[in-house]
Amino acid sequence: MGLEERFEELRRLRELSELGGGPERIGRQHKAGKKTARERLALLLDKGSFEEADRFVVHQSTDFGMEKQKVLGDGVVTGAGRIGGRPAYVFAQDFTIFGGSLSESYARKICKIMDLALKTGTPIIGLNDSGGARIQEGVVSLAGYADIFLRNTLASGVVPQISAIMGPCAGGAVYSPAITDFIVMVKNTSYMFVTGPDVIKAVTHEEASFEDLGGAETHASLSGVAHFASEGEEECLALIRELLGFLPQNNLEDPPHRPTLDPPDRLDEPLQTLVPDNPGKPYDIKEIIRTVLDDHYFLEVQPHYAPNLVIGFGRLNGRPVGVVANQPLHLAGCLDINSSLKGARFVRFCDCFNIPLLTFEDVPGFLPGTGQEHGGVIKHGAKLLYAYCEATVPKLTVITRKAYGGAYCVMSSKQIRGDANFAYPTAEIAVMGPEGAVNILHRRELEMAEDPVKLREEKIAEFRRKFANPYIAAERGYIDDVIEPRETRKRLCAALELLQTKRDRNPPKKHGNLPL
Ligand code: HXC
Repeated sequence: MGLEERFEELRRLRELSELGGGPERIGRQHKAGKKTARERLALLLDKGSFEEADRFVVHQSTDFGMEKQKVLGDGVVTGAGRIGGRPAYVFAQDFTIFGGSLSESYARKICKIMDLALKTGTPIIGLNDSGGARIQEGVVSLAGYADIFLRNTLASGVVPQISAIMGPCAGGAVYSPAITDFIVMVKNTSYMFVTGPDVIKAVTHEEASFEDLGGAETHASLSGVAHFASEGEEECLALIRELLGFLPQNNLEDPPHRPTLDPPDRLDEPLQTLVPDNPGKPYDIKEIIRTVLDDHYFLEVQPHYAPNLVIGFGRLNGRPVGVVANQPLHLAGCLDINSSLKGARFVRFCDCFNIPLLTFEDVPGFLPGTGQEHGGVIKHGAKLLYAYCEATVPKLTVITRKAYGGAYCVMSSKQIRGDANFAYPTAEIAVMGPEGAVNILHRRELEMAEDPVKLREEKIAEFRRKFANPYIAAERGYIDDVIEPRETRKRLCAALELLQTKRDRNPPKKHGNLPL
């Protein structure tokens, strides 16, 4: 074979490898409202930046006549590219080849890029769309999954890992995305479950549709498995690009600085009246968050799950921060099982990747109830506490109103290594709210009083005057300063600037024992 023929053969094979499962299956994919693996990668990565690996890999199976059905690439497209100019390793499962099902060779391809990502300190993005284990390969396929799970775990906290769910993701296959840092699902075309509707029906006689059981909205609002539910594939991939803009490449880097024209000393008059005078009146904590961040921009994570705690990313004078905030609009901002889980995972993520934490606190306590106690609010609330205690990134806290009881301690208090702790003049920092405190402290007096209602009101007013303010905590230095709300951005930007060189570490250990 002459040189030109050899080149020609390479070009032909390359073209063949780009055809995936062929025009008919690509047509089916499009008809189902889904893009192909390569179309998705073109949207995810900077134009022309994709460097493919292993396009000639095929499966090694000889059972069920598989030796006659070999397709170049074997159902997954892998390689590296750039996102916003920075490198990322990627894999995109190709549903047009054996339903994107995972074979031994396919798993090796994914493991190869995961190993490179770990060695080079580069994020890993997985686009999932697969019928699960390749049935023809049996246990070899299961072993391939286990190889991936191990790498997901070893990479956890070293490089960011993001999973897009863009089609089926079922059985044990869900556990790779579950170990990664963020899951972005696409509404109506993706689903995740451990056991599907048919198995559920056979075992428990329950009827459940794919969508109800494991669709994007279910996981974004009910189970909390997904962090985002996007309207379509373009939105899903754009979101991943945006999310990466807040994150460093790995745990040894700082998150990327993005210069802004928004002045760091901007004063915000609307904040002066945002927290109502009446402590029982709700307000939207997201208004404070958006006002304070650069360009009023906040990327909320898990907006529909446990909305009593708001989490997400923004920037202060160009520096990314992870925001955690009690939301008085839902459950009066109480902490409960779901919000503790949501907050704890987010705090730990930020701490892994050197993203400073900004906490807004207005929390009347943990949600009371047998449901919460029997569900283990003790151990789940402890996760949030543990996560904040363990975090060594710069920690900024603003108490806008209530900081009662254990929740005071949990939400980035000075005692658990808060670096800059501010309070508004409306802050009430106490063991409990005035009503509860008076009922306990003056029970006997109230029982014997001629006019218990009047006495109770007087005592509540007295307690409020004496304790429901920020100054008792400030007297002891638990609060660094009491600030006017309009100064929030200015004070936070200045504090974050000072904390850029913060160095703190936990005692050496194999790993802690998070209360799981
Ligand atoms: C091999 C598979 C496959 C699989 C699908 N295909 N799943 N091939 N192994 N697991 C093939 C089909 O034969 C078909 O091939 C093509 O992919 C498209 O599949 P369709 O069924 O036509 O597509 P659709 O109607 O969209 O249904 C998608 C599906 C369904 C819901 C995912 O294919 C399905 O239920 N597949 C089996 C899922 C499953 O049970 N997987 C194993 C789970 S156990 P042709 O040639 O016709 O195009 C598991 C364990 C992991 O994954 C454990 C990790 C620890």
